[in-house]
Amino acid sequence: MINIKKDLEKLKTISTIPVIMRRIMETIADESKSYMDLGKIIEHDQSLAERVVAMANSPYFGHSGMINNIDQAVLILGFDLVKSIAISMSVFELFSKTEAKKMKKLWVHSYKVAIASSELCGKIPVTTAGVCFLGGLLHDIGRLVFFSLYPDRYRDFMFEEGLSEKERRIFGTDHAEVAGWFLEGMLIPEEIITAVKCHHDIKACSKHVGVASTVYFAEGIISSMDKDEASDGKWVDEMESLFLECGLSGDDIVMIEKRINEEAEEIRRFFDL
Ligand SMILES: [Fe+2]
Ligand SMILES: [Fe+2]
Repeated sequence: MINIKKDLEKLKTISTIPVIMRRIMETIADESKSYMDLGKIIEHDQSLAERVVAMANSPYFGHSGMINNIDQAVLILGFDLVKSIAISMSVFELFSKTEAKKMKKLWVHSYKVAIASSELCGKIPVTTAGVCFLGGLLHDIGRLVFFSLYPDRYRDFMFEEGLSEKERRIFGTDHAEVAGWFLEGMLIPEEIITAVKCHHDIKACSKHVGVASTVYFAEGIISSMDKDEASDGKWVDEMESLFLECGLSGDDIVMIEKRINEEAEEIRRFFDL
């Protein structure tokens, strides 16, 4: 009998978690440490530092091209956002080692959902775009967790339709719930975790509904425009009526599609495709 929570604890504690990520989490938990300490730890891992700086410069944070190093990123974006970017990027590195090609596809999907979420953030007055962006970026992290824990069982259907139902049938839970378990305790802002947990079922969301809605809609929009095999959402009637209720319209979807097409080159470059 599978005990996912127990297996997840192992994933979070044994050597699969890179030292760098553990040190980031320890630094954040230790109130006597400052952002300078965080900067030093991130800089220690050059590829992580480069990714954090590249991500901090993405237009969704509003300071495109102005950030040259980690300290500047912290000064301009703030400690919380840089911390979340660093965690997202180190999670990215953690899961990129195995079957890199497959994982890249999933990250491209996540990045597109992140872009769409942050575009919607400006329309649903809730929070800063950075939070929506990171919610989108991490939204399918549960799929990577499943793949890391049970590669032989998960590999065959991880890009199939009806993914959540299949997960529930086989594992008794789905990637949204597993992602919540994985991210809790990683000191990621609660609104990001909530958005990840509710990205397929907004009705399950009782707080941070604004941020969560952006990721929920983004998953539907990206999955319907992008028939690539890593997408796992659907644009359904229920989603459409809520979308309209929030004051959004077809024009917003057109705007997102345009944005994704404009970013295609950047996405390819970022993920080395
Ligand atoms: Fe998903
Ligand atoms: Fe997704």
